[in-house]
Amino acid sequence: MEWKQAIEEAVHKTAKNIVRFNGLFPHVSENQQYRLNNNDEWTNGFWSGILWLCYEYSGDKKFKEAAELTVKSFQERIDNSISLDHHDIGFLYSLSSKAQWMIEKNEQARQLTIAAADALMKRWRPNGQYIQAWGPEGDPENGGRIIIDCMLNLPLLFWASGQTGNPAYKDAAILHADKTRRYIVRGDDSTFHTFHLDPETGNPLNGETHQGYQNGSTWTRGQAWAIYGFALAYVYTKNPLYLETAKRTARYFVERLPEDSVAYWDFCAPVNSQTKRDSSASAIAACGMMEIISHLDDCDPDKIYFREAVLRSMKSLVENYATEKDSEGLLDHGSYCIRRGESPDDFMIWGDYYYLEALMRLEKEHSGYWYEFTKQKLTAY
Ligand code: GLY
Repeated sequence: MEWKQAIEEAVHKTAKNIVRFNGLFPHVSENQQYRLNNNDEWTNGFWSGILWLCYEYSGDKKFKEAAELTVKSFQERIDNSISLDHHDIGFLYSLSSKAQWMIEKNEQARQLTIAAADALMKRWRPNGQYIQAWGPEGDPENGGRIIIDCMLNLPLLFWASGQTGNPAYKDAAILHADKTRRYIVRGDDSTFHTFHLDPETGNPLNGETHQGYQNGSTWTRGQAWAIYGFALAYVYTKNPLYLETAKRTARYFVERLPEDSVAYWDFCAPVNSQTKRDSSASAIAACGMMEIISHLDDCDPDKIYFREAVLRSMKSLVENYATEKDSEGLLDHGSYCIRRGESPDDFMIWGDYYYLEALMRLEKEHSGYWYEFTKQKLTAY
């Protein structure tokens, strides 16, 4: 498969997007055009991450300059506390300022990323021992709510402990990952999207979906967050339970894919000719599975199983889901929130980011910006 060509098409579209977006940040599309904002969405780090990946691939300074401008905007965002009252601070700053630190060793970017980790720690609830996803502390609807997506915000905390020597960030991340593993991951390796805990005791109350088909269903993007999130928790902790959870949730995902190996939006949604996909879930899962593979011995049969699954999905994404030449998006047929009718069959900036990260993993063994130490790579594709 020609991954290089797919990357080059993505780099070309991104170069055009720098001009088209003119300093604004893309979120999700509507009628094949990105909705742009001023850096007040949970998704804005993905645009920075795409710019950094394009810079690392091409060495072209225009991507670096555009990425640095986004980091400047993220500095203003934290200085003025703009839309940071949620847990997605990890998505925002891992791919913007942390990426800049990883690439350029820029001290200001390092300090900004530590400040972001401090902001995320404000959502740590010591009584219940979890990171509150949404809403203010004590909120009747969201005060005890954890969500599976948060697994991708934990790398910021692990990283901050490594940088500062303060174990508080990583201790919180581990306790949160353990709670997620215990209550969000179900006995059959499927996942709830969100789960309510008693805020005072941390005792389990009930699971609830937010973007999935129904309570108790398995929203495919949530399952993908689990795969990649637990794989990354393993990278930082080497706790084999996390790797095992990543593998089990990945196997659940792979075994339920349709013929073209790209996920529908919820594994429990009735399937007919109108059922929407979520290509972004498949891109995230591909990155997660490649992370898993890199920790497996060559003789492990799971290694072959997951490698074949990744190659099937990625081939399908490149051949059938990548956008046309002049599109703003990179990956089509993602779904943001089918329940609310919001961008149900569109491109979305995180789908674009994970698609490019997956291609860079395949072509360059580049593993994105979630962790910065090098580890022995066991797999060549
Ligand atoms: N983290 C929100 C989403 O995946 O839609």
